[in-house]
Amino acid sequence: KITAVTDTLDIKITKTSQSKLAETELTDLPFGKVFTDHMFVADYINGEWKNFEVLPYGPIPMSPAISALHYGQAIFEGMKAYRLPDGSISVFRADKNFARFNKSATRMAMTNIPEEVFMKGIAALINLDRDWAPSAANNSLYIRPTLFAMDAVLGVKASADYKFVVLTTPAGPYYNKPLRVKIETHYTRGADGGVGAAKTAGNYAMSMLPTQQAQAEGYDQLIWTDAKEHKYVEESGTANLMFVMDNKIVTPEVRETILDGVTRDTVLEVAKSLGYGIEERRVSVEEVLEKIASGVLTEAFAVGTAATITQIAEIGFEGTIHTLNDPANRPVSAAIAKKVNDIRYGLVPDEFGWNWTI
Ligand code: COI
Repeated sequence: KITAVTDTLDIKITKTSQSKLAETELTDLPFGKVFTDHMFVADYINGEWKNFEVLPYGPIPMSPAISALHYGQAIFEGMKAYRLPDGSISVFRADKNFARFNKSATRMAMTNIPEEVFMKGIAALINLDRDWAPSAANNSLYIRPTLFAMDAVLGVKASADYKFVVLTTPAGPYYNKPLRVKIETHYTRGADGGVGAAKTAGNYAMSMLPTQQAQAEGYDQLIWTDAKEHKYVEESGTANLMFVMDNKIVTPEVRETILDGVTRDTVLEVAKSLGYGIEERRVSVEEVLEKIASGVLTEAFAVGTAATITQIAEIGFEGTIHTLNDPANRPVSAAIAKKVNDIRYGLVPDEFGWNWTI
């Protein structure tokens, strides 16, 4: 539950005179290409948060020397707002994303953001752009908060000043078909002592070359393995991983190499509420392939805010494709996905207190 939002933040609001809403078809837009009319910005300067502003979406003036560009002190979050049956808008589990945002910031030696700035900034932006929240099934308003280093100094050290920006973008499903994924055994996403658990820009930058290579081989995405032995599956390119083995949900345990996914946690909580057993532990590549072959592993899927719950159809390992059960017939993940979506879209009581209605 969000309780710490007070009314003390003074947000300047400048409305656009050129709304793009009338000319935008809101349903099933490709992910993250169309932004709403406004954005929220705030500055951390001389040790103080200030300049809270909702203003027309557009370029931000900044020095080409800022540390975010040169040394990658940049973090972000992804969350979603859903249109409820009564027309109101509900942001899903914002408290979790807020906590992870500051955890990422701490790992990257960046300032933390007060809960009030994060929550009230998002609320003010959504309130102004509420007509942009799609109402079609499986569509939502994706919220992208980002924090980046603003010191225009080329010395390598943590920046003193930062900018916080929130963008919103109406979005359909990130993936529109079951995935063919490749188990990556050369490149590494996260190493012990590294930044794998932080939602920082560089984790996505480093993924692009290996992902491009996999896509050239006909895959959609990667499954990352551990840095030491490339023996254990960790997460997928844009989401955490889950398997159904013997009717139980099996998922790699959260470690410092893996992003502690909010959708991951949501799916586990909902699975428990539906009576499924949960195993959070290390999962080896060998186990996955053996259990596909023996029929014990009946479902595999990726879970993330953008990805939602996306079925995995095929897993490639060292050039061999392992085909899973028909993605259209996955009763466990289908039951979980239904309940997760019913909660998100306000179709059943919010028994977990996850919806923040704006
Ligand atoms: C999200 O699921 O919100 C993500 O951030 C993944 C991504 C598309 C970068």
